Amino acid sequence: MTTSVPVALGDRSYDIHIGAGVLNECGERIAATVRTMPAKLPVVTDENVSRLHYAALAESLGAAGFNPEPIVLPPGEHTKSFAYLEQLLNKLLDLEIERSGLIVAFGGGVIGDLAGFAAGILKRGVAFAQIPTTLLAQVDSSVGGKTAIDSRQGKNLIGVFHQPRIVIADTDVLSTLPKRELLSGYAEVAKYGLLGDAAFFDWLERNASDALAGDKSALTHAVAHSCKMKADIVARDERENGERALLNLGHTFGHALEAHLEYENLLTHGEAVALGCVLAFRLSSMLGFCRVEEALRVERHFANMGFMTALADLGEARPAPADLIRHIRQDKKNQGGQMTFVLVEKIGKAFVTADVPEEAVIRLLSEE
Ligand code: NAD
Ligand code: GLY
Repeated sequence: MTTSVPVALGDRSYDIHIGAGVLNECGERIAATVRTMPAKLPVVTDENVSRLHYAALAESLGAAGFNPEPIVLPPGEHTKSFAYLEQLLNKLLDLEIERSGLIVAFGGGVIGDLAGFAAGILKRGVAFAQIPTTLLAQVDSSVGGKTAIDSRQGKNLIGVFHQPRIVIADTDVLSTLPKRELLSGYAEVAKYGLLGDAAFFDWLERNASDALAGDKSALTHAVAHSCKMKADIVARDERENGERALLNLGHTFGHALEAHLEYENLLTHGEAVALGCVLAFRLSSMLGFCRVEEALRVERHFANMGFMTALADLGEARPAPADLIRHIRQDKKNQGGQMTFVLVEKIGKAFVTADVPEEAVIRLLSEE
């Protein structure tokens, strides 16, 4: 069964279609969004996704009358760079993609962010479809129109808001995802419960292990509920003038950790976010915003799921507090040079604040 979640953004509204096997419906679902069939349909993907799933996608697209042209990039965060953006734009221009055409992003968050950015700036904006293939991309990065590349100063600092025309999330493709990537995406699922839905977090405490171990209905529910929460927030605050910043729970510390570790394999994005959520709860309890029991409960859940929950777990790679603070100062939420954090009153109630003394952050980041 397919669940469709609307993202209500006026004339830029679109649907997210979620379900097991929905990849086979991509052709007809994408065809329903175009006025005229483009001569060529570029499908931006990475080597892993291409090897495992491109044939099924191409068959569905071909059956609907499209002429798919794969553009296969190396996997990994390094692909979200100026160099690959340039390469991708040149390939799209060589294919003579028209402004009225469409680009398909078929992969994880790296491909979605890069292809979405390329679509957003090519000929001042070409439409694109998101077909996310990681749990992280299905519940987060494919929805909401944030696109970006990284630079040496930090992650996602160069990009545009460019909403996709459609999102198609086949939960069956997640069965080929390495366990570490699946778990990593789970951090973003838990984040939704933590920031705004305590009942969903309760449900996750009971069902998340089964969902990740192959319970299809639990996994589809987790993806669909996450998408619904994100869609509602994005519809209320597309450009992150307020509420949308809550989606960055765990990301202030997470992005700083990733930037410090230079996107190496030591921590995936989701692992950094999970550790970041634990740190956000600990800081909240240290500052008296939330009960220590809530912070411990969050830490316990992430530990039970198999995440690192302390900076000390990084061993020799553990950053000095000053190094992390330097990266936190680059965070896009900051204003007037003040570090801004997403903190919590309790599980299910997050808020944004710049009222955090630097000494408290240093104390948190120095804890054993
Ligand atoms: P990713 O795109 O690097 O994918 C992770 C790995 O899984 C890659 O090696 C990829 O080849 C492989 N893979 C993808 N699908 C697969 C499948 N079905 N089977 C087997 N292997 C598969 O990483 P990610 O975690 O999906 O995305 C991380 C990126 O997303 C980061 O750059 C982050 O900044 C970005 N992000 C963006 C937003 C947003 O709103 N735009 C939100 C969250 C994260
Ligand atoms: N992943 C955060 C956002 O989309 O706003």
